[in-house]
Amino acid sequence: MDADRPLQILLADDDESTLSLLGTVLEARGFIVRLAATPEEAIAAVESEPFDAVVTDVVFDGESAGETILAATKKLRPQAICLLMTGYPRVDAAVQAMKVGAVDYLQKPVDPTKLAATIQRSVNEKRLAKEELPFQDLVDILSGLVAKSIESVDPYTAGHGERTRRYCRLVAEDFGLDKKTVERLELAAIAHDYGKIFLDDLGFLTKKGALTPTERREMQRHPLVGAERLGAHPQLKEVVRYVAEHHERWDGLGYPFRLKGGEISRAGRILCVVEVFDSLTTRRSYKNAWSLQKTIDYFESQAGRAFDPEILDTFLRLLEVNGQTWLEAPKIDLTAAGLLIPAERGELPTMVKASEAVPMTTPSSELPALADAGSATAQTEPLG
Ligand SMILES: [Fe+2]
Repeated sequence: MDADRPLQILLADDDESTLSLLGTVLEARGFIVRLAATPEEAIAAVESEPFDAVVTDVVFDGESAGETILAATKKLRPQAICLLMTGYPRVDAAVQAMKVGAVDYLQKPVDPTKLAATIQRSVNEKRLAKEELPFQDLVDILSGLVAKSIESVDPYTAGHGERTRRYCRLVAEDFGLDKKTVERLELAAIAHDYGKIFLDDLGFLTKKGALTPTERREMQRHPLVGAERLGAHPQLKEVVRYVAEHHERWDGLGYPFRLKGGEISRAGRILCVVEVFDSLTTRRSYKNAWSLQKTIDYFESQAGRAFDPEILDTFLRLLEVNGQTWLEAPKIDLTAAGLLIPAERGELPTMVKASEAVPMTTPSSELPALADAGSATAQTEPLG
């Protein structure tokens, strides 16, 4: 159906004055109208023309023929919407009309303006129902809603989910993961911090200083809470798994389950690397953005510790090509969210203050976001 062309309407009624009145008004509204005074004329018209809507009386010269016209329309022009008109409304007749495919049942005398509106609304509804939303568009819409919910409780994560999704896809495709796994990983990347929304006290999400042990324990609930909230739908099984795994570590010191090495899914291991990269290179309430070199040094120090070395190799290779773009991306998103001051927007790249630097020898147990730790060291690592 071309949305811009005029709608073609068949009006069938044995009462010529009704036909004339309704036809005149519908034409004035831009419809192309064909009139039929008998059931035979109506069915012949349906056979020859591709109507968008067929509007018919129920009773013709004492005979109930409206349903016959509707049945012919449903068979010959299944794309058309059907409306019935009658001067003798009965509940059972209305039910029968719906059974043979009428979308509405209008009592005579029919208000022409109401008829025009009913036709237009019914055709629009049918068009919308027919339009297939591509799967990827549907994912985009739902992902956007989830991301906005997360960002509403932690504005510093503006764009974090979408960036993580883009980079995860690149790594996964480079790694040769199949299309379905890549799609599920993309969903998990968007939703990985979904559990933050349901934490008891959201104030610490944007806290400037280090978390207390209690706050840290609460924060570390979010992978599991998110996985539980995403539910047990069989189609989301793998997505839920990746979300639950996104703070696990290759060496088994992560959370919530302290999974180790291959116990963590490959997609989950990709998400672990990518999510940390974007968190490190983004300004948060508790830290400045890390420079590219500092981030690379950190990742290299964590091969076989926090991260799967094979996935890390792939990621670092992609980082050589995309590093500068990926470093700039959070600034664009944070600026759009009003969270970067002009001076920061001009920096290329933003350097952390010396007081915020974490020595590369820092034991994994002191890395707040990457291990089940209770350290009171300066909070420069990503929390989420
Ligand atoms: Fe997280």
